[in-house]
Amino acid sequence: MSEEQHQPSTVAAATPADHIVGEELLVDSSTDSDSTFGDAVDSTTTSLASSVTNYRYEHGRRYHGIEDGRYSLPNDEAEVDRLNLQHRVWEIALNGHLYVAPIDHDSLNEVLDVGCGTGVWCIEFADAHPGVQVLGTDLSPIQPHNVPANCQFIVDDANDDWVYGERFDFIHTRTLLLGVKDWKKVMKQAFDSLKPGGWIELHEFHIPIACDDGSAGPDSAAMKWGNSMYEGFQKFGVDSMATAKFREYLAEAGFGDIRETHTKFPLGPWPRGDKEKAMGALFQKDIGDNLHGLSVKTLTQGLGWSTEEVESFLPQAKADMYNPQIHTYFPIDIFWARKPR
Ligand SMILES: C[S@@+](CC[C@H](N)C(=O)[O-])C[C@H]1O[C@@H](n2cnc3c(N)ncnc32)[C@H](O)[C@@H]1O
Repeated sequence: MSEEQHQPSTVAAATPADHIVGEELLVDSSTDSDSTFGDAVDSTTTSLASSVTNYRYEHGRRYHGIEDGRYSLPNDEAEVDRLNLQHRVWEIALNGHLYVAPIDHDSLNEVLDVGCGTGVWCIEFADAHPGVQVLGTDLSPIQPHNVPANCQFIVDDANDDWVYGERFDFIHTRTLLLGVKDWKKVMKQAFDSLKPGGWIELHEFHIPIACDDGSAGPDSAAMKWGNSMYEGFQKFGVDSMATAKFREYLAEAGFGDIRETHTKFPLGPWPRGDKEKAMGALFQKDIGDNLHGLSVKTLTQGLGWSTEEVESFLPQAKADMYNPQIHTYFPIDIFWARKPR
């Protein structure tokens, strides 16, 4: 589906709240059983070229090679599959849209996606906007070779100094949370890299995960997983509740028109509504089936758990995430803001 078809051409016409799942998830009490739903970078800087593919192998997984401790998730094929699945969850949540900010298509020339992962967002954006140059950056060169001519990828660490200049009309990030230690700095650098009138848009989650109806108590494995991950990320210097400060950081960086919306991605097809069920079924796979890759580095290196402890605990957390009586979700926060003209 072409993004052009969806997006209004003027700033005022967009209604971002229409694009997103509701803020409340209502339990579908009729659903007691499991549902049936269910090549390398184009140009990286020469000095980085050898180190970026000098991957680390731990816990049976492949990790990025720049510097240990920057990002705790793998970058191998299984993670690429997970990220592409996660993209589908976002696509459903946003009703096929790639973003919610009311960007002005008439003056859209250059777009940056920071922490682009598999590059799927960039590729779809570039396809939908053939006249726009899209640049995706990531710690890992895991993007495909065959991409639209107006789409480019480079290896770059968002925590380092940005050297783009005041160049972009739109900067997008999505689930970059675990790779950024200083969001204040990232937002300031994004501000400096946007042209006046340009938009930034950030889609992030929280960990701990949440449950509104008490079906996952504090001692449940699912909630213990979320709480332990939060503690582990802290040991790595990452605040997995950082979105609580996003509005403040955006304002301090100089952004105006700051908007935010909050939604919930269900872990499982337990809520009412076809859309919520579809999202939940995919997200349950995305997280539940990938708990080991998502967690092992954080629980062992961050919290000092033994491999045996991790191996015996994670199946319990996964069972909770697949238990239709347990209604957990990831809180999702979306912010968009504009650099004043
Ligand atoms: C969970 S993935 C999300 C990928 C993509 N944004 C998406 O939504 O499909 C996070 C990505 O951010 C990248 N990343 C993490 N920390 C980073 C950093 N400091 N600079 C650049 N990329 C980073 C990771 O390598 C990973 O590909």
